[in-house]
Amino acid sequence: MTFKRTLVTTALPYANGPVHIGHLAGVYVPADIYVRYLRLKGEDVMFVGGSDEHGVPITIRARREGVTPQDVVDRYHKLIKDSFAEFGISFDVYSRTTSKTHAKMASDFFRTLYDKGEFIEKTSEQYYDPEAKTFLADRYIVGECPHCHSQGAYGDQCEKCGTSLSPTELINPQSAISGSKPIMKPTTHWYLPLDKHEGWLREWILEQHKEWRSNVYGQCKSWLDLGLQPRAVSRDLDWGIPVPVEGAEGKVLYVWFDAPIGYISNTKELCEQQPERFGQWQTWWKDQSTRLIHFIGKDNIVFHCIVFPAMLKAEGSYILPDNVPSNEFLNLEGDKISTSRNWAVWLHEYLRDFPDKQDVLRYVLTANAPETKDNDFTWRDFQARNNNELVAIYGNFVNRALVLTKKYFEGKVPACGQLTDYDRQTMAEFADVKTKVEQYLNNFRFRDAQKEAMNLARIGNKYLADTEPWKLAKTDMARVATILNLSLQIAANTAIAFEPFLPFSSKKLRAMLNMDSFSWNDLGRIDILPANRELGEVQLLFEKIDDAEIDKQMQRLADIKEQNKLNAYKPAEIKAPTTIDDFDKMDIRVGRVLECQKVPKADKLLQFKIDDGMGGRTILSGIAQSYPEPEKLVGMQVLFIANFPPRTLRGIESQGMIFSAVDADGKLVLVQPSREVRNGVQVG
Ligand code: 2FM
Ligand code: ZN
Repeated sequence: MTFKRTLVTTALPYANGPVHIGHLAGVYVPADIYVRYLRLKGEDVMFVGGSDEHGVPITIRARREGVTPQDVVDRYHKLIKDSFAEFGISFDVYSRTTSKTHAKMASDFFRTLYDKGEFIEKTSEQYYDPEAKTFLADRYIVGECPHCHSQGAYGDQCEKCGTSLSPTELINPQSAISGSKPIMKPTTHWYLPLDKHEGWLREWILEQHKEWRSNVYGQCKSWLDLGLQPRAVSRDLDWGIPVPVEGAEGKVLYVWFDAPIGYISNTKELCEQQPERFGQWQTWWKDQSTRLIHFIGKDNIVFHCIVFPAMLKAEGSYILPDNVPSNEFLNLEGDKISTSRNWAVWLHEYLRDFPDKQDVLRYVLTANAPETKDNDFTWRDFQARNNNELVAIYGNFVNRALVLTKKYFEGKVPACGQLTDYDRQTMAEFADVKTKVEQYLNNFRFRDAQKEAMNLARIGNKYLADTEPWKLAKTDMARVATILNLSLQIAANTAIAFEPFLPFSSKKLRAMLNMDSFSWNDLGRIDILPANRELGEVQLLFEKIDDAEIDKQMQRLADIKEQNKLNAYKPAEIKAPTTIDDFDKMDIRVGRVLECQKVPKADKLLQFKIDDGMGGRTILSGIAQSYPEPEKLVGMQVLFIANFPPRTLRGIESQGMIFSAVDADGKLVLVQPSREVRNGVQVG
């Protein structure tokens, strides 16, 4: 099948929070590279993105913040859209699922399937909040987890033990809206009978798309092997697109029904805005010569490979995706990225902290892309890749070639003379760069493709180091001219090869090389820059990132970890019952710290001299790690047990035990009376 055009879509992020590096590495950076590459080749391509603005989490956030769901999606849609644009994700359209066009498109789509009898209608008992007079989405029901018995588990999952739940499993369920006890009430919904589609889905994916990435193919196969079930495509909710059927008041389309239709709606919006450039939206969605590619994260595979295709097929006039490249997950410093734990590098914060360093993050995320397995982003790796690869290899090579040309040839491309064997050997090393990059990109292997581009800079660097034109300048200017000519040609090749990956730096480099027009087809050639071409102003292509900048980011993450620990704190279980008689045996007193110091060679011990009102005593306490400046404790009143038998530790006799509380972060905190009292008074 030869295709005439390519439609590339990227998963629509929920407008419920900002986007982070996991989203970028998994979906948006690879999709952008792919689209830029196709555009460079002169292909007819459309790049569609947008925000997913329905779904229960948005209503929950709105309720928590005391604003409307529309306020929430307005805020995040703008933040996401602006940061994508600043990061160079080159969408042709970035719209939203709250648009009018989308409401109509999704509604009509549902109606077509409904009229064709493609749904089944089923009534089942679901939880209903009699006080708030509404059915409850799974997330809106909380109760005790039947597995770990912690409180506050949700109707779909217990976040404490991670178990997936259904609302009816919760012990003592409560409505998260009103706190009242929900009742079971029958409700009717529309279901897409996926089981009916199983046959052709098996043939289409398992037989005709063996080339899909193994993670995608594998997930589809296990779903299909388990047997598909009908899936509800409507919900009882007041946020979403109303179900366009009589008697469906209070029901909306399930977010996963409307969201992928958003790709179609956004295409339509774009075509209406730019008909000369993009033509009619139907051409992109209904013409068999369009190649449809969905870039998604691995948690979206089943929706894009099974559910959405079943919807498209049921409708009958649409094409199906040709490929669904999906990445695994990116972790951050060894931990799963999590929005609720704030464990992420947020794009808008990155752009604030590293303005003009879009390409560094693009480079690192591609070099480390989780293409075949989960991968890890670390700030040290980010710094190392910038300093040791972008600066030391790519930037350094380009800078040397340009500076030497400025120095010896007044900034004009010198003419190429006779080539040596070594020159020819060097050129042979990158003659097939175009084929290689294309092969990798055509197979969605972005890491390998980017490596090939970097390889050009490596070749250039080595060529300059081996030929040492600065040494020849005194004796053989003709040879220097040839060396610099070839070096500049390699630099021009590098600019082209990196264009899809690092568009900001390529643009900068092209300005330095005065290459306003160029073509992807030039890749591999050594006569891209004509002799005598005046070069532009030389600038640094990349700058070193110093330790202080990285330390700041690491500190931010350390603070978040600390905060999460505190947030996750739960008081320990109450100990077995005891009696006042046991307590009365204990002689607890107040005393003042007269001296305090670390016990030499003991990490944890502090030695206290306490004024106990009875001549003083020495007490050792294992709190040194919580009080790195023990001298500051002098003068403070503390509580201690006065009638423990003395114990000798490290040759020091300890006469009692000082009270401290163990805080959520594990730090020990001395307990003090709430006002000054006489030293030696009893506590009880
Ligand atoms: O997982 C998500 O973030 C979804 N909002 C993706 C939707 S993709 C498409 F169907 F719109
Ligand atoms: Zn649990």
